[in-house]
Amino acid sequence: MADGSGMAAAAAVDMGGHVMIEVCAAERRQMALVCRLEARCFGLERVLYGQWQRVGAPGVETWIAYINAAAAGFLISYPHDIDAISCPYVAALGVVPHYRRLGAAHALLRTMLLRYGAAWLHVRASNASAIALYAAMCFTVDRRVSAYYRDGEDALLMHTVVLQASD
Ligand SMILES: CC(C)(COP(=O)(O)OP(=O)(O)OC[C@H]1O[C@@H](n2cnc3c(N)ncnc32)[C@H](O)[C@@H]1OP(=O)(O)O)[C@@H](O)C(=O)NCCC(=O)NCCS
Repeated sequence: MADGSGMAAAAAVDMGGHVMIEVCAAERRQMALVCRLEARCFGLERVLYGQWQRVGAPGVETWIAYINAAAAGFLISYPHDIDAISCPYVAALGVVPHYRRLGAAHALLRTMLLRYGAAWLHVRASNASAIALYAAMCFTVDRRVSAYYRDGEDALLMHTVVLQASD
């Protein structure tokens, strides 16, 4: 495994024999790697206040997507209260620019959905790429949250549920 993670694979997808995507659970000792990924996805300011600082904390689950053994993206999740109910929540999801549109974010979200059966998240109302990703994965908009972000931008609160065979 690249980056010395040595983690057991949670999911591996062979994309037609050319691109191999592997999603692995991350441990606390991989904080620095997640920090680098978060900064490459969202900008250097995330080194100061990014979600990477939660990696390995109680209740926090982090996955790293590797594309052909190179760390390409990450997802950090933890329980978050939505209308006073604790829900599985995507705190951060990003794929570094070089590896986008290869299925890494889809594989990360799929891993979380297989684990929890549902996912909630906030996304910037202007983030067309991310909204397209979530729509492609059957997320729906629960509500618009006015001035959710520090810069005053609105968020869309979105969620999806994986139906069980018995549903
Ligand atoms: C949004 C983001 C995570 C998508 O990651 P990705 O690995 O490129 O996404 P995937 O390859 O798994 O895309 C799966 C599907 O989502 C949709 N999608 C993803 N990016 C898209 C884009 N830029 N435009 C239109 N549709 C898009 C497509 O349906 C795509 O399937 P396709 O490639 O077969 O058409 C990535 O662009 C990113 O890191 N952006 C910056 C950080 C960010 O905005 N994170 C989300 C915060 S809420």
